[in-house]
Amino acid sequence: MEVQNDIKHIAFIMDGNGRWAKKRMMPREYGHNFGAKKFREVASYCYDIGVPYVTFYAFSTENWKRPVSEVNAIMKLFMEYLDEAQKSRDKDVGIAFLGEKMRFSEEMRSKMKFLENATSACHKKLCIAINYGGRAEIVDAVNKLFSEGKTEITEEDITNNIYSGICPPPDMIIRTGGEMRLSNFLMWQSAYSELFFTDTLWPDLRKSEIDDIIEQFGKRKRRFGGV
Ligand code: IPE
Ligand code: IPE
Ligand code: MG
Repeated sequence: MEVQNDIKHIAFIMDGNGRWAKKRMMPREYGHNFGAKKFREVASYCYDIGVPYVTFYAFSTENWKRPVSEVNAIMKLFMEYLDEAQKSRDKDVGIAFLGEKMRFSEEMRSKMKFLENATSACHKKLCIAINYGGRAEIVDAVNKLFSEGKTEITEEDITNNIYSGICPPPDMIIRTGGEMRLSNFLMWQSAYSELFFTDTLWPDLRKSEIDDIIEQFGKRKRRFGGV
């Protein structure tokens, strides 16, 4: 389908991998494997329908609370993605990682940095929120501004210094997995995003459902405080 609504940015909260696996009596990691495949499929679909900015919530600052084995499995999938993206990059798509990178291994950080630098001139953007926290993002921006000597901070300063400074705010945020909350995702950027929640578990999300959500988006009246 063609995107009629001039949507510039869609952000996804990829939730429900664990429950998807549990339904199949499989370990949670099994769900993350399928979730990682779905992430690739959904990203390329968004570019196909003409959306230039796409963001995925892959791992929150709170997700470190999970069992080490699960965290390791997610990091392994992330490493696989980094290697794959390095080898067969879509020349059009710039990759940016939103989150605090110091928590990751040296190897992982250097791969992330390489990809970001190699793709920084691309017009389309793929943002991956990993070790991401919306509150931490705002605090980091404020501290950065202080360290630069600022004593008074404007909204514009924060907008320009959050991790996703390169992206316009998301027009829509889609959360799979049935929970109706943001779980610390894009606290600053979501001020006027249209929110969509679906019970579909992330690995089950289909293109046709994305089309339906986009159709619903088209019917919403975005007033941004006006009349
Ligand atoms: C994936 O879904 C999101 C990540 C944190 C990687 P979950 O792993 O939270 O799946 P559920 O919510 O337990 O089903
Ligand atoms: C949100 O999902 C984080 C990601 C999708 C990466 P969670 O599963 O961590 O959220 P809660 O714990 O249900 O709020
Ligand atoms: Mg979850």
